[in-house]
Amino acid sequence: MSTPRANAPRAGTPQTNAPQANAPRANAPRSLGDLQHSIEGCRRCPLAETRTNIVFGVGNPQAEVMFIGEAPGEKEDLGAEPFIGAAGQYLNSLLLLAGLRREEIYIANVLKCRPPGNRDPRPEEIEACTPYLREQVRAIAPPILVTLGRFATQFILKTDRGITNLRGQVHLTGPFSVLPIFHPAAAIYDRSKEPVMEADFRLLGRLLTTRRSEQRKRGEQAGSAERGERGEQAGSAERAGRGERGEQAGEGPANAPLTGPSKRAEGELGGAPAQ
Ligand code: URA
Repeated sequence: MSTPRANAPRAGTPQTNAPQANAPRANAPRSLGDLQHSIEGCRRCPLAETRTNIVFGVGNPQAEVMFIGEAPGEKEDLGAEPFIGAAGQYLNSLLLLAGLRREEIYIANVLKCRPPGNRDPRPEEIEACTPYLREQVRAIAPPILVTLGRFATQFILKTDRGITNLRGQVHLTGPFSVLPIFHPAAAIYDRSKEPVMEADFRLLGRLLTTRRSEQRKRGEQAGSAERGERGEQAGSAERAGRGERGEQAGEGPANAPLTGPSKRAEGELGGAPAQ
């Protein structure tokens, strides 16, 4: 039996709010179902010869957070689902530190097919496979992307920098806040990484709390502006009837950006908002 990915990480394994991220777009992306259907039987790279199953991705299609791993391991290849082996169990426990449950998130990999023996993804495999990931990200349009490990991070942020350098900071790219984190398998292999993993998942929790409270505030302000406007319209109609002068309506919606440690990056998904 080949070594499970979780126990055998490869040597060297080691940023705004997204106002448009969940909004409907004129140029709508394909649905996840259509996309999944379209990649059945994919033969874009030689991994098609050795895989058991394509591991498309799983989870909430409207997730606030999308996790991106590297490639399926043995269990995932057999079960056709990402992160169901040891790394997945560990990931599930880390999610709780961020106040997340597995069913709330969406999770997918850079590669949809298992590299034999869990070797590193090859550049040509990444090139062949990542159009699928790009479409997944566009379909879900999550405000937050968590990249697990070097390959996902370097692909999304379009950088050669190492994960050790990038992890634990929010990088802003296009409408996405990207939080790189060590791959869970790396921390299973090297237990000294556990505290850092835990700190990064707590940071994710804070990011979510901040984002949600800002969203709530914007909702309240928009609501009070709308109420103010309705009151103003009703009042001015009434005053017009009585020949009185109108008053100022309520406050407009705030545009507070997402706060937290962040860096602006020209990533894979940077520039134009997802479409
Ligand atoms: N490691 C990954 O990167 N992805 C999986 O789905 C499982 C292990």
